[in-house]
Parts: sequence; structure tokens; C-alpha cells
Amino acid sequence: MKNLLFIFAIFLLPVCPNLRSQTTIINIGNRTTISLNGRWNYIVDPYETGYYEYRYVPFDKNPNPWGGFFLDKKPKDKTDLIEYSFDMSPTLLVPGDWNSQAEKLFYYEGTVWYRKVFDYEKSKPGNRVFVYFGAVNYEADVYLNGKKLGKHIGGFTPFNYEITSLLRDKANSLVVKVDNKRKMEGVPTLNTDWWNYGGITRDVIIAEVPATFILDYSIRLKKGSNNEIAGFVKLDGETKNQKIHIEIPELEISSEFTCDVNGHADIHISSDKMDLWSPGNPKLYRVNIISLSDSISERIGFRSVETSGTEILLNNKPVFLRGICIHEENALRGGRAYSEVDAQLLLNWARELNCNYVRLAHYPHNEYMARLADEMGIMVWEEIPVYWTIQFDNPETFGLAKKQLSDLIHRDKNRASVIIWSMANETPLSGERNSFLKGLVEHARSMDDTRLVSAAMEARGDKNDPNLRIVEDPFAEFVDVISFNEYVGWYDGLPEKCNSITWKIPYNKPVIISECGGGALQGMHADALTRWSEEYQEDLYKKTLEMLMKIPQFRGVSPWILCDFRSPRRLLPGIQDGWNRKGVIGRNGKKKKAFHILKDFYDQAEMRYR
Ligand code: GCU
Repeated sequence: MKNLLFIFAIFLLPVCPNLRSQTTIINIGNRTTISLNGRWNYIVDPYETGYYEYRYVPFDKNPNPWGGFFLDKKPKDKTDLIEYSFDMSPTLLVPGDWNSQAEKLFYYEGTVWYRKVFDYEKSKPGNRVFVYFGAVNYEADVYLNGKKLGKHIGGFTPFNYEITSLLRDKANSLVVKVDNKRKMEGVPTLNTDWWNYGGITRDVIIAEVPATFILDYSIRLKKGSNNEIAGFVKLDGETKNQKIHIEIPELEISSEFTCDVNGHADIHISSDKMDLWSPGNPKLYRVNIISLSDSISERIGFRSVETSGTEILLNNKPVFLRGICIHEENALRGGRAYSEVDAQLLLNWARELNCNYVRLAHYPHNEYMARLADEMGIMVWEEIPVYWTIQFDNPETFGLAKKQLSDLIHRDKNRASVIIWSMANETPLSGERNSFLKGLVEHARSMDDTRLVSAAMEARGDKNDPNLRIVEDPFAEFVDVISFNEYVGWYDGLPEKCNSITWKIPYNKPVIISECGGGALQGMHADALTRWSEEYQEDLYKKTLEMLMKIPQFRGVSPWILCDFRSPRRLLPGIQDGWNRKGVIGRNGKKKKAFHILKDFYDQAEMRYR
């Protein structure tokens, strides 16, 4: 009897099988949406009491999930035993990390439950409704009205779930279990030089779409062409096999294509009138995609990027990347950056440096960054957090890295500003690491053959020549651009050491120095040999840039880093105090002397590469 009951109970499982995580809807901002941004109730749950019953079995796998916080239960009467209450709990702002919002959560790593109650009335019967998260760091278990929608792993990429069949008109309870514990098998792993900001760190949106809607599309210049647009459109829903139209009014384009039974249509459009996107001319075209029951629109730039020998070619012209590295943090506020205003703060600072390029380190940033870079004419290196010592021999870890790479390319494939996909940062050489990264490159190229691929590699010394630095990496043969981080004058000797260093980089490929520089406490002044003074950093920048100019393949640089950022590894009292001080801008927004050295260098570089 007991077994029969158990079997019967299994069918009561609060997981709706058809509510799997869907392909993420791109250009979500162009949809009919309501924002769930704002205040959410939260419960800090370090023992995951709301997830596991006392025998450590997850409630959401229990036939009778009496204790799961995702039920958002209220006491029926005064006798009812319920040991949690979202209604009586405090609130956090979403989007936003919890660390910078509540003193008691500053160092917290563990589970926090979030709950939002919302009413919803469909704008049109028959439409479908999705809940979309810009990102949740690091693991999210998502429930609506007590039913599990799914689990997402990865702290920097979007995901969504269809909720059409679960919605009610009033008081929908959306509950998210967020766990930011670092994991050895994670991507990133346990050790990083940035703050492990936890929470629902980006926008949450309810999006409504027609029964058959435009789920995905890629509209870009065909590889090797500057007058042919190639790509695809993908429909989702019951009537996939239908005609669609692509309109680019300014180019007097209105083309019709037919989606196959899977909803897929390949796109080919020629035009000799295209004004190509570039930093000097960030031209974006309004592109409209129209199906029988849906339409979507966005502004897209058309450009080509490739390499030829040691040159990086943008629209067939050599370009020098005047860059800077950026972490996703609004240092003035002291927390994760997430908004268009945050993106404007960071990219306007980069523009003040006369940058035409930024390296968004070390993980996918929020979507506002690449979209704003499109508008501003700033080229972008985007990266997944395959950082330092991740588990290269763990297939699950590879799966996580590949998923994050897929999601990043899926989201930003229509952004002209994005020119480089980076697979990794400073990963230790090994056979496992080489095959891990090679697998990622192959996947990136299979999704997108129109952009460059790289990774931030490392240099090494030479036992016979103390002044020789060598960049040799088995992974170099698989990338388009040789990128490496170097810290001569900071971690490697003093600034004058730059004067005697020579480089051996045995590749006929463009070279970008993906990190260089050193630290300074903004406002600390002394002689140029006093570590942490602005004068030390200023002198180091001068000597570093002179050294790098001697590298024949030198085609770009992104010094580390635009702005001081929080790191639990930076503990020097009175100087670091939990901040990495390598910014050319202090956490107070004030520029350091090195800022002006870099800007002057870029002003001259721009003259050279007109
Ligand atoms: C490394 C690493 C960065 C780190 C920096 C530093 O190169 O890539 O993430 O913050 O050096 O030491 O400050």
C-alpha cells in the first residue's frame, strides 16, 4: 500500500515537466513586458532550512513539500505551525547584490530566498508569458505559485521560463532560492580576485508574446563580406512554418523568407548601400522582423572584423585597440553594476580615456554594456569566467563553461561592438586545460564565425636571460589574437625593469596586452618609488607603454583596470581595505595621475592609426 501511495504521490510532484528553462528570448526589452524590479522580501537561510527537510531531502522532491519556503505559506489559523514568513521579512532591491545592501550580508555566502508577489492580466488571450532573469549569482531555484520552474547555474547570463499555464490574475508568488556559495567545480571556481556578489543581480521581467513568436534571430554581415547580410530567424510556437519579413527601411530592404517546420529560416540580404559600423562611425540600422502574429525591432550595426598576419582589420582597415579593463561594478555605490546608468558611468569614463575598446572582465556583463557600446562606437572583448584554477578535468565544469559561453554568444550575437569572445583568463598550462579551452573555441566558432577568439594568457621568464619574457602557449594556435597579462614593474620587479625587458612572442598574429599596470591609492602622493603612491603608478604606466611599443605585433592594450574594485584578497589596512587599487580611477570616482598618462598615449595612438 505504502509503495502505491508513494507512486501516486510522485505524480503530485510540484514540478511542471513542460516548464523547462527555454531558449532565452533575445532583445527582451523590445517585448510587451512588466518589470518585477523593485523591493522583494528576503529570508537569509544559511542552513537551507527552506529547501531541505531534516533528513536532508529537498522539499521540492517531496510528494508533500510541507516545509518548502517556495510554497510561501501563510498560517491558516492560530494553531498553524509555520516557521517562516516572507510577508514579515525585510526587503532587498532587485536588481542588486545583497552584499552592498545589508551590512549583515556584506560577506555572506550562502542561500537567500527572494519573494515577489504580482498580479497579472494577459493583454491578449492566447498569448504566452515568460519570466526572464538578466542574471542571478550563482545558483537559482525558481518557483511560481509553489511550482518549480527550474534551476539555473551560472552567475552572469540570462535565463527564462514559460509561466503561461501557472499564472493567476491576482497575487502570483514568485520565489527564488539564490545560492552564491563558491564551488570547486564551479565556473568560476573557489578563488577569484573579485567580490562574490550574490543575489538577483540584474533585471527581472515578465514578457508576453504571441502563441507563435520570434524567439531568436541573427542579423549580421556574412563572414568575409561587406555587403551581404547573413543569419537566421527562429520562431517558437504552434505555427512555425510560415513566412517572415525582414525590413531595413533606411536601406530600402524588405525581404521575405519562409520558416521551415522547425521555425527556422536562413537569411540572406545584399546591399551595396550599407554604412559600416566603426568607432568613428557607430552607424546602427533599424531592423524590423515581422511574422504572421509577431514583430520585433532593434538597431543593429554592420561591420567585419578579422585578422591578417599581425593586423586586426575592422572593415578591412588596420585598427589599434585603445582599451581598458572593466569589472561589472559601480564603485561609487560599491556594488554590482546592473543598469543603463551604470553602463553610462563606466563607458563614459572609458571614453574620457579616448578608448575605442574595452575588455569586460572576467565574466559576461549586463546587456546594457554591449548595447551602449554599439551606440558609442566602442569595441568590446567579452569573456566567460574560466578563471585561474577551475577543474579542467571535470566534464560538468566544461559543461558549465560551454553553457555560459553559449548563452553569452546567444545574447550578444547582434552587437556590432562585440569583436572578441574570450575563453579564459590566466589558466595554468596542462593537457586538460588545453583540450578544455580548445573545446570552447570550437564551440564559439560553431556558433559565430564572424568574430575573433582569444584568451588572456600569461608570460614566463627565461632561466638563462633574466630580461627575457616569453609568451608561448599551446592554446595560441587556436586563437585569432595573442593576448596576455603582464605586470613587469608591479609583481615583477620595479618600474625601471620595463626598460630592460625584451619579449619573445613567436606568433605571426596580432598581440593585445590584456592586462598590465599596478596599484595606487587615489590621493596618496610621494616619490615614484613609493609603492601605492599615484606617482609610482604613473611612472609604471609610462615605462610599461614604452616597453610594449617595442613588441612588433603590438596591436592593442587594455590596462588593469578602469576603476578600483572590491576584492576579498586585498587586505592591506589603510591602503587596500578590501579594494584592488589598480584602477586609474579611485572608488571615489577621482582620476589618478596614471589616467592622464594612458589618455595621452591613446591620443597619440589615435593619430598613428587614423
Ligand atoms: C590578474 C587577474 C586579475 C587580477 C589582477 C591583479 O592578472 O587577471 O583578475 O585582479 O591580476 O592582480 O590585480
